[in-house]
Amino acid sequence: MDPSLNTADAPFDLALRPASFEDFHGQSKVKEQVLVMVEAAKQRGEPLDHTLLCGPPGLGKTTLAHLIASAMGTHLHVSSGPQIERAGDLAGLLTHLQERDILFIDEIHRLQASIEEYLYPAIEDFRLDIIIDQGPKARSVRIDLPPFTLVGATTRAGMLTAPMRSRFGIPNRLDYYTVEELKHIVLRSGRMLNCEIKEGGALEIARRARGTPRIANHLLRWVRDFAQVRAQNVVSAEVAAQALAMRDIDESGLDEMDKRLLEVLIHKFDGGPVGLGSVAVAVGEDVSTLEDVHEPYLVMQGLVKRTPRGRVAMPAAYRHLGLIPPTSAQADLW
Ligand SMILES: Nc1ncnc2c1ncn2[C@@H]1O[C@H](COP(=O)(O)OP(=O)(O)OP(=O)(O)O)[C@@H](O)[C@H]1O
Ligand SMILES: [Mg+2]
Repeated sequence: MDPSLNTADAPFDLALRPASFEDFHGQSKVKEQVLVMVEAAKQRGEPLDHTLLCGPPGLGKTTLAHLIASAMGTHLHVSSGPQIERAGDLAGLLTHLQERDILFIDEIHRLQASIEEYLYPAIEDFRLDIIIDQGPKARSVRIDLPPFTLVGATTRAGMLTAPMRSRFGIPNRLDYYTVEELKHIVLRSGRMLNCEIKEGGALEIARRARGTPRIANHLLRWVRDFAQVRAQNVVSAEVAAQALAMRDIDESGLDEMDKRLLEVLIHKFDGGPVGLGSVAVAVGEDVSTLEDVHEPYLVMQGLVKRTPRGRVAMPAAYRHLGLIPPTSAQADLW
């Protein structure tokens, strides 16, 4: 994928990030559940239960964490799995928390095992036992913490360790947005950017946004530039379609990398089954990007299937590339 379409927390993302639950379109189930939890916690004067948000990149996990903190009327402290390298880093974060504050750990599946061990008593009993000094002088010090809430986000719920997963309640799973929801998001973003955008223009963008608000906003940014230079600043359906065609984004939102992946799967590996590692080498992308960013959408679109023996190109993938699906070899895997 064009990396500019997937830059987490770029200034553009921040500018368009919904500041209230009213502006947060879609994900109605998750939103409703979160609002009930927030309301209940506030009524009891307790911290919110520890919460896990999972789902593919750009669907609104970080946004939701901010909204939860503001609905609770507390502070959000932001960190991420790879950033917490030593026990001291975690202690630094935890000791700055006030009662009912929210500690947001992004990419929580990437926390080191040793850090997880420190985190468990902190979230269960609100205490931190750390060892200070080394050798014979080493001693354990207990720090009491105020009751707080851990909100974890992950694009890979499957990579979370079992003990970690069991410390959260029911996970909140964010799903790809519908075209209609994305259209609303694009129209709202257009208003915020002072860009005149017609319903049809918003729809064209929404259809190509791979079910992802972040991508919808990034496509809008490009379309807005195009409209400014070529179409008197008005984004109609035709203008949006022209602008997006210029960036090789096809009508179902597949980008260059998605198409390459399908081509490789079909032409180099006979439609599969083939391991993702081999596909990654053939397309020149790393496995985790394929797994987190590209594959979930291709699977959702019914273009690729994950089987125990590897990835398989589905009939829709052949048709997408203008080919006729084979009749025998793969058919028993579909
Ligand atoms: N429900 C929504 N309504 C409107 N805009 C949204 C919504 N969800 C996300 N966005 C927009 O998409 C951007 C990306 O969302 P966010 O950063 O919360 O995604 P994420 O799930 O945390 O992604 P990552 O896994 O990459 O960290 C936001 O800055 C915001 O502009
Ligand atoms: Mg995020």
